[in-house]
Amino acid sequence: MQIAVFGLGFVGLTTALGFADKGFSVRGYDINKERCAEIASGKVPFFEPGLDDALARNLGKTFTIAESAIDAAYKSDICFFCVGTPGLSDGSADLAHLLSAIDSILVTVSKVCVLVVKSTIPPGTLKERIMPYVRAKGANNPLAVNPEFLREGKCWDDFMNADRIVCGVTDDTAKNVLMKLYMPFDTPIHFVEPNTAEFIKYLSNSLLAALVSYSNEMALLADAIGDIETARAFRILHEDRRLAGAGINTYIYPGCGYGGYCLPKDTAALDAVALKKGFTPQILEGVISLNNEMPELTARKIARVAGGKTEEIGILGLSFKPGSDDVRDSPAAKIIATLIRDGYVSIHTYDPLAMREFQNTFGLSITYCTSVREVCETCKVVALVTAWEEFKGIDKTFPDIRFVDCRYFLEN
Ligand SMILES: NC(=O)c1ccc[n+]([C@@H]2O[C@H](COP(=O)([O-])OP(=O)(O)OC[C@H]3O[C@@H](n4cnc5c(N)ncnc54)[C@H](O)[C@@H]3O)[C@@H](O)[C@H]2O)c1
Repeated sequence: MQIAVFGLGFVGLTTALGFADKGFSVRGYDINKERCAEIASGKVPFFEPGLDDALARNLGKTFTIAESAIDAAYKSDICFFCVGTPGLSDGSADLAHLLSAIDSILVTVSKVCVLVVKSTIPPGTLKERIMPYVRAKGANNPLAVNPEFLREGKCWDDFMNADRIVCGVTDDTAKNVLMKLYMPFDTPIHFVEPNTAEFIKYLSNSLLAALVSYSNEMALLADAIGDIETARAFRILHEDRRLAGAGINTYIYPGCGYGGYCLPKDTAALDAVALKKGFTPQILEGVISLNNEMPELTARKIARVAGGKTEEIGILGLSFKPGSDDVRDSPAAKIIATLIRDGYVSIHTYDPLAMREFQNTFGLSITYCTSVREVCETCKVVALVTAWEEFKGIDKTFPDIRFVDCRYFLEN
């Protein structure tokens, strides 16, 4: 079977290499030429454990980079669209990249080539937006939606050992092709209506976001009550046998708000769909609204510990979570921007992986240090914003520093 994958970011490159590793012939294409060249030279353009080995194993064999979208789609049996679906200003999902990627191949693909949207799209999108768009162009290709549940930092493992595969299909051709493709993964596969498949992805992300906001609200309440060991209380909560050992516990823990590419935009997009359908989702709106407040509340917490505006403030951690160099919607950026807005002029930062990406993305006027030590030798107030393992115990090494543990991490 010949597969084409459009968009070679976290989801697309993982998908392409995952199928290639199972022996399928895969051509990948990205409009970002630099990204294509980097991958074609054997380099993964972002930090993601396992992908570099998978690329080395498959490049030039089962996986190649196509010269153009048409070249990738030519004689393909199935096309996966893994491009970004960022949020628009009203919260709704921007489908421009997706529609443009689909446009770029319609002239080439055979009538039976299955077009599969792997990008996250809100419930109703395949049937109400994509299908009419494709049909209006005179293409009758089978369409499907196959949401991806992988986590950054664990992309490869999550894709190769998924706990479930969800496919929203409209006909048997799409179902049969997807069945064949996922057969070697030996994972439960669910064929459902497209709206259901899209909804399952948002059920998942909105629940994770709700757990984070619930935990943050409880931590704020604990502060208001006083004399509560918040981190300890959460750890004891995790001992409940209904939760014990569950990976979801990482979300039932306070911090400085959820960030990254998925939860903020997906919760906003679901809210936008709900409002458009005349339904006001009260819990979801509360989840989003508390999360939007978290950078401000966290910056205030840091400011309370700092002496004055001239105080040199250290920020440890810039990526949206440990084990990743992704800084998209990172709470660190919003917290730092709030501190700068409030007049704190001397901010020193360090992150084990994400400093270059952070600097290129936000261009904030801060100092980038070469180590945790350098931050701690410069600043008397240091906020821990991303829970990197290497920051653990730092309070013992530098007992004179006033740490603001925004991730409830140090006493763990
Ligand atoms: N990152 C995650 O953890 C994750 C997890 C599950 C689902 N998703 C969803 O998957 C989708 C992709 O996310 P990502 O993190 O991989 O994004 P990404 O930004 O890492 O990658 C998207 C890629 O698509 C490319 N692209 C844009 N337009 C294109 C076009 N017309 N043709 C070919 N390539 C094009 C971009 O250049 C970019 O390299 C999003 O809808 C996201 O919500 C992401």
